[in-house]
Amino acid sequence: MPLLFTPLTLRGLTLRNRTMVSPMCQYHSVDGMAEDWHLVHLGRFAMGGFGLVMVEASGVTPEGRISYSDLGIWDDRHIPKLKRIVDFIHSQGAAAAIQLAHAGRKGSRPNPWRPDLPTSQAKLDAIGYTDWQPIAPSAVPHTEGWKVPHALTTEEIAGLVQSFADAAVRAEKAGFDLVEIHGAHGYLMDQFLSPLANRRTDEYGGSRENRMRFALEVVAAVRKVWPEQKPLFMRFSVQDWHPEGWQVEDSVELAKQVKALGVDLVDCSSGGFDGAKVAVAPSYQVPLARAVKHGADIATAAIGLITDPFEAERIIADGDADLVALARPALDNPNWPVHALRQLDPGDAAYDLLPKPVGYAVRALDKALELKRRN
Ligand SMILES: Cc1cc2nc3c(=O)[nH]c(=O)nc-3n(C[C@H](O)[C@H](O)[C@H](O)COP(=O)(O)O)c2cc1C
Repeated sequence: MPLLFTPLTLRGLTLRNRTMVSPMCQYHSVDGMAEDWHLVHLGRFAMGGFGLVMVEASGVTPEGRISYSDLGIWDDRHIPKLKRIVDFIHSQGAAAAIQLAHAGRKGSRPNPWRPDLPTSQAKLDAIGYTDWQPIAPSAVPHTEGWKVPHALTTEEIAGLVQSFADAAVRAEKAGFDLVEIHGAHGYLMDQFLSPLANRRTDEYGGSRENRMRFALEVVAAVRKVWPEQKPLFMRFSVQDWHPEGWQVEDSVELAKQVKALGVDLVDCSSGGFDGAKVAVAPSYQVPLARAVKHGADIATAAIGLITDPFEAERIIADGDADLVALARPALDNPNWPVHALRQLDPGDAAYDLLPKPVGYAVRALDKALELKRRN
């Protein structure tokens, strides 16, 4: 069996293989509620053979959303619809995760696929439109033309730490197998970590130790309420790709400290601040996953322009990462794991990864095409 398709056990959870769907905002919610859209969007990845399906960045408070149309987990009202998605993912043999998120100063933005707002109030209400002043460690906007955020007081910071913990409790009630804390992409937690956004002079700013404080408090609070047998992931922007920003060695130190607090895997992304200089190319973030894995002796996920099954297999075989995550390639081909396994191991195993009502028929299709090729 190719190593990409061997199980991975973290605490009490065993994933059927090493493929993961990376969280992807759909901007398809009203008031943070999951819809049929999310069930089908996420369900097809479970049907397509992924080991772990992660629900998109979900606001731990209404102001933690990127836009008015983000998914949310700030209220118990959100639980039943999320549970329905979890149950379906489980029924297809995959594990279900959710990313707990706060956008900070990158909140209250337009929906990227619906940039023009309707003009009538009734239509605005129907899409749940609302806007707000974002919050951040410091009153510095993301870049020119973005809203100036309110600088958080220490009491407000404590409230946000509690919001992450409360969201984790809801994730447990919805039946998720693991949660991921979003510490990447220039969103709130990353705004604390990076000197590019954090200008505070109190215990949450200045030295690296101080800038890490909010992240460590959130991890500790979430781990306290998240069941011991369930894994906890954290997404890092391993580096800002900016000379004055957060660097790989900072991530190695953060990974060591969150590991001590009970994080099981670091999902290794990068960037998110204005002025980043990065040459995007296939597998360009894999060296970041390798650096964190070996530097902090912690499991990692590799993400970013990984499309080739042989490259995905190499990442696991060479010990660069423990999971291979896909976002856009999964949107393009929700059956990516099945197709990958067919290429890596031309036996029958790939058909068994498909749901039973589908697998036998696809096997018959391949056999018929093979016969045609031979004759
Ligand atoms: C439509 C879309 C939505 C995304 N939403 C999120 C998100 O909710 N949380 C997150 O951490 N990253 C998000 N990302 C980033 C992806 O998870 C991933 O890191 C990035 O797309 C690179 O992987 P890829 O080359 O496989 O697409 C999103 C990306 C896309 C394309």
